[in-house]
Amino acid sequence: MDDDASAIDETVPGAGAGAWPLWRPAYAAGDPLPALTCHVARPQYRFDEGDTLPEEYKALLLRMLRHEGERAGNKSFLGFMATCLDLAEAMFPPHARRLKAEYVAEELKHAIMFHRLAAGLDPDFALRDVPYAHYAFHLPRESWADDAFFHFFVDLNGAFHARDWRESSYVPLAKMSATVERDELGHSEMGYRFLEEICAGPRGKALVQALLPKWYAAALDMFGRSDSPNVPKFIHWGLKSVGNAEIRSAYKQYVDRKLAALGLEAPDERAGRRFL
Ligand SMILES: [Fe+2]
Repeated sequence: MDDDASAIDETVPGAGAGAWPLWRPAYAAGDPLPALTCHVARPQYRFDEGDTLPEEYKALLLRMLRHEGERAGNKSFLGFMATCLDLAEAMFPPHARRLKAEYVAEELKHAIMFHRLAAGLDPDFALRDVPYAHYAFHLPRESWADDAFFHFFVDLNGAFHARDWRESSYVPLAKMSATVERDELGHSEMGYRFLEEICAGPRGKALVQALLPKWYAAALDMFGRSDSPNVPKFIHWGLKSVGNAEIRSAYKQYVDRKLAALGLEAPDERAGRRFL
């Protein structure tokens, strides 16, 4: 296979790097993500960098940031980015590798943004290594289709969380939410466009349908338990607007629509789940 960069097939829609960022068409048609509205009466807290934070608030914020792996001082994140490039080298068609490189560049941009936030909140945390705990990050990626699903589902999880930060009581997080949401949606669209390409043929489509249950269950599980005892606290302090069940349901509606548009059948939402 000729992998000379100039051989990029620009006729494949959204294939060449020229198509980047992939969030543009999605936002050109309005707000692609659903509103996550808080229906609970709560105090209107607002804290900025350097403010003295209530202990519980700071603990919850750090807990939330531990889930957001992309941070310059997080060795595990840098290792994960290297893995991403290895996968692209080993499994991607040439025209898709350029997009993957754009993706990595953008995640590195996020790593700087989250580093600044972490350094302003707790300098010790800024350099802490936080290995990826959720099993979605450890599912085998043995094909381009696997990696496409990873981006479609996992980056979309990031976009939904960033969508919820628009209303965050922590000002630095609210300020960066629109950029992170938009970028993550673009990463998810990259995965989706790869799936579109793979599903263009009957064999590719069969492979994608066969891989879907593995990724679908992990994607829904990334929102945590519906009865998590921390949710009321996150909502009280204005760090989240809705609970795990609500954001998961909004996410499921979004992905089911996208999967149906590819002619794929969404699995039973309880199948293979570890966190309901
Ligand atoms: Fe991403």
